[in-house]
Order: sequence, then structure tokens, then C-alpha cells
Amino acid sequence: MMKKLGLLFIISLFLVQCKESKVKDLPVKGLIAESAMVVSARNEASAIGVAILKKGGNAFDAMIATDLALAVVHPAAGNIGGGGFTVFRTNEGLTGALDYREKAPLAAHRDMYLDEDGKVVPGKSTLGALAVGVPGTIAGLFEIHKKFGSLPFSELIQPSIDMARNGFVVTKKQARGLNYYREAFKIANQRVIYFDREWNEGDTLKNPNMALTLERIRDHGREEFYSGRTADMIVDCLQGLGGIITKEDLSKYKTVWRDPVEFEYKEYKIISMSPPSSGGICLEELFKSIDPYDIAQYPHNSEQYIQLITEAERRVYADRAYFLGDPDFVKIPMDSLKSRFYNKNRMLNFTWEQATPSSAISHGNIEIIESNETTHYSIIDTYGNAVAVTTTLNGGYGSKVYVEDGGFFLNNEMDDLSAKVGSPNMFGLVGAEANSIAPEKRMLSSMTPTIIEKGGKLKMVVGSPGGSTIITSVFQNILNVIEFDMGMQESVSSSRFHHQWLPDLIYFEHSFDTVSFASLRKKGYIIDHEDYGSIGRVDAILVMPDGRLEGGADPRGDDSAVGF
Ligand code: GLY
Repeated sequence: MMKKLGLLFIISLFLVQCKESKVKDLPVKGLIAESAMVVSARNEASAIGVAILKKGGNAFDAMIATDLALAVVHPAAGNIGGGGFTVFRTNEGLTGALDYREKAPLAAHRDMYLDEDGKVVPGKSTLGALAVGVPGTIAGLFEIHKKFGSLPFSELIQPSIDMARNGFVVTKKQARGLNYYREAFKIANQRVIYFDREWNEGDTLKNPNMALTLERIRDHGREEFYSGRTADMIVDCLQGLGGIITKEDLSKYKTVWRDPVEFEYKEYKIISMSPPSSGGICLEELFKSIDPYDIAQYPHNSEQYIQLITEAERRVYADRAYFLGDPDFVKIPMDSLKSRFYNKNRMLNFTWEQATPSSAISHGNIEIIESNETTHYSIIDTYGNAVAVTTTLNGGYGSKVYVEDGGFFLNNEMDDLSAKVGSPNMFGLVGAEANSIAPEKRMLSSMTPTIIEKGGKLKMVVGSPGGSTIITSVFQNILNVIEFDMGMQESVSSSRFHHQWLPDLIYFEHSFDTVSFASLRKKGYIIDHEDYGSIGRVDAILVMPDGRLEGGADPRGDDSAVGF
């Protein structure tokens, strides 16, 4: 029951906009563009990214402009007070990944969210100043710019400064979300904040303090955020609310270039995020678990398709819970988790006749020697470079702590560490020792920014928000395209389902066809068709056989593809 409540909490945090909606009248054809595209959670941000591409900027320039625009126009998840991951592939086929995930503060400790009886204090890791991890986004954007930027940073940030100052139009879904969180804003900040008012569709939202912060960053660079006036604002705000982040935490923050997880599936090469995200390695385990089965023989979203995907997801999420954490702190048995033999063996006790109960599944037997509001956008530029970025405050508006004089929210990413080993977080995900709290540790993530090649050429850029459902949303969309021959928009619009080992439930979107449910129930599957209005929000780009691009902008949100 507790685990189910945890999942219900995600829905309210991430998907409040979609709670009552069924995804219907879905678009099946996406925007087609000749050579360049940005698909993101908001039209304003996609358009700002595309304007940079039109000026001759590359995908990395457009990434910086889009990211900062999302921080203004989509403050529930776009951010400067959070963190993220970028996976890229250049037009020469060079691949890489940047980790600018938040870190636990120096004063963090293993039991910081427990009471004297050793029980997790509800809300302590999700709401308010103690939930905040040291933000990485601004460091990430400057690092990308240093390595790949071709236009001056000042040109990339200016459209967001202007939008923060002049305002943008609040959408219906956005107004609903902002209004929903009013009480939480008050609790986290111990007072009424700027965002705490009744919002209506069509209102103009201006954020002059955010405009000033972005101007200071434009003028003084990365250090403005990590040791300048903005750093003072963050620390003053948090310490006034009982937080533990210090100026030392901010000044010590560093990004890390990582080797992405790369693997082959049939004629495709899949390139995704490595730990501290679980996204890439879980994706690889999922593909290797289903590889021995000819999946395309089962009709899309049919009973057998659901069974096979569910059983693979169940086993992979059990591994996720046990083995994965910050690779700078724990030894992850990557070779075993990536092995075809291991993943095939994990599926050996799967039968078509009956569900495998999650209680019968534990993490795999690997000998270790020696040692959910988030947002995703996809970009392809005219030069053929591709960037997949997932960035997050964790929950909608993060910890709800708002740095008033800076004009931005801070994350609640500390909840992605295990407050207590074996206890579920707000996504219902349980964690083990590998993801326990320690100073300066990066919290395990599910973010799965992913790029796919076919025959050595760029094929697809994809990713999603949605906490624990990110990995399964990305997995199912890749299968939609490469196994079921769907176009990008058709794939993104298609109904999704999700299993994460614990709780032992298959979550189906409201729009999902119920035809197979009775038979699945007879086999022992527990079905939840009530609680998830929608799962994930996938923004993706497909390179079509003729070289043109098709965007897939998720109709579950306000998402939008812009290209030329
Ligand atoms: N905060 C969501 C994730 O990183 O998976």
C-alpha cells in the first residue's frame, strides 16, 4: 500500500496536468523538416533553439538556448536550480555524455531523513530546503559551450532574458499545475511567494528577477552562479529555511564527462546515458532480455507483447534497485549487467502461461569482484550533429523552494538517493546500499537521453521525463519505430504501459485498450488502469529514409516541434 501511495504521489507531482485526460484524437504525423529541428516541452523554447540554428549555430548552441528558455517558460521542470545529462553524437560520429547531475551537500549524511526510531520522515526528502541537491545545470551549459559552442554565450542566453522580462503566455495545463502547488509553495518557503496566485490560461507570466539572474550569468559567467551574487542568494534562502547547502558546496561543484552506454540491437547502435543514470544500462538490459524473442511477431500492445515487456522490465528494475548508484562511489558490475548471457538467463523463468510475481524476483546473481517533473528535448542541426538532453528539478517545481530574489526554484533531487535502504522514494523505487546518502554523492537517476544509429548513420534522438517511467517510455518508443515501423509522431502518441518490479503492478495509461486485461488478470498480472492518466512525455526526432526529419512532440503535454 505504501508503495502504491508513493506512485500516486508521482502522478500528482508530475502529471497533474494529465490527471483527468485521456490521450485521444492523437496526431499521427509529426512536423517534417528538411534539415534541422528542436522538439521540447514548449513551443517558445523550441522556437528559440531553432532561431539559433537558423543563425548558423550548431546543436550545442541550440541546446544552451533551449535549456535556458525552458528554465523560464517551463519552470516546473526546466531549470537553473537542478541538473541533467546530455548525450551527443557529432556529424563525424563522435559520441559522448556530460553529467551535470546534482550532488549531495557536504553536510548530508546517511540517516538525515530518518526519525529517532529510524523511520523515514514523510516529505523531508521531497519538500523544502533539506530536499535540495547542489545544482549542476549552469555548470553543464558552460561546459558544453566551452567544448562545442560556436556562438557567444551572451547570444544564446539573451532570448531567455527577454522572455523572462517581457513574459510568456500561461497554458491551460500550466495554469492547472501552478494552482495545484499553491499550498506546497507556501509550506516549502514558509511564506507566500511570487508564483503563489491563481493562474488562468492566457495570463502573461513575467519573471523580472529571473531576467536579472540570467543577465548576471551572461555578464559574469559560470562563477556568478557558483560563487557570485546568485550563490549568496541560494545559500541565504536555503539557510533561512533550515537547509544545509553552503557556498563551499556550490564552489566545489564539477561536471563530469562520461562514456555513454553503447550497445547493438539488431542493425542499430543505441547510445544512452551511463551511471549515475540507470537509464542507459537498464535500456541495454531490456533490449538484451527481449533479444532472444522475435518481438515483432506479437502485435503492438497485444497481450503477449505486454507480457514480454513487463517480465523484462520487472527483472531489470530489480537489478536497478540493487546494483546501481554513483559510479564515483560504488562499483557497478557493468560487464555482467551488459552481458547477453546474463540477461537471457534472467528471463529463463518467464512463462507465457503465468505472471512471475515480483516477490519471486530479486536482483541477479552477480559476483562482484573486489571490490518525476523532468523535461527532455531533442535537437538535430543542419550540420548533422545530434543532442539528447534530459534535465530536471525532480518533482514538479522541485523542492518548491523558490529563491525569490533570483527568480528560480531549487530541485528536490535528494529524494533520488535512498532515504533508507529498501524504502520506496516518491516514484515507488526502492534502493539499496549502492544509492545510500553520502556527502558529494550523485543520486541515481532514470533519465535516459538516447541517440540511435542505423548503419553508422544518425537515426533517432529520443528521451522523456517521468521519473521511474522514463526508461520504459524510451524503450517502448524505440521498439515502436524499429520493430513496428511507426513514424516518430505515431510512436510518441501511442499508448504506453509500465512495470518497475515493485510495486508488482502494470500501470496502463487511460488511453490503453483494455481488450487483453481479463486474460492478463487470469495469468496473475495485477493491472492498474486508474492512476496513470499518462506515462512519460517523449520528445523525439526521427531521420527518415530520405534524410528529412520527423518530429514527435508528445500530445500529453504542451510539447512542440519546430524545424526548417
Ligand atoms: N529525478 C528523476 C530522475 O533523475 O530520474
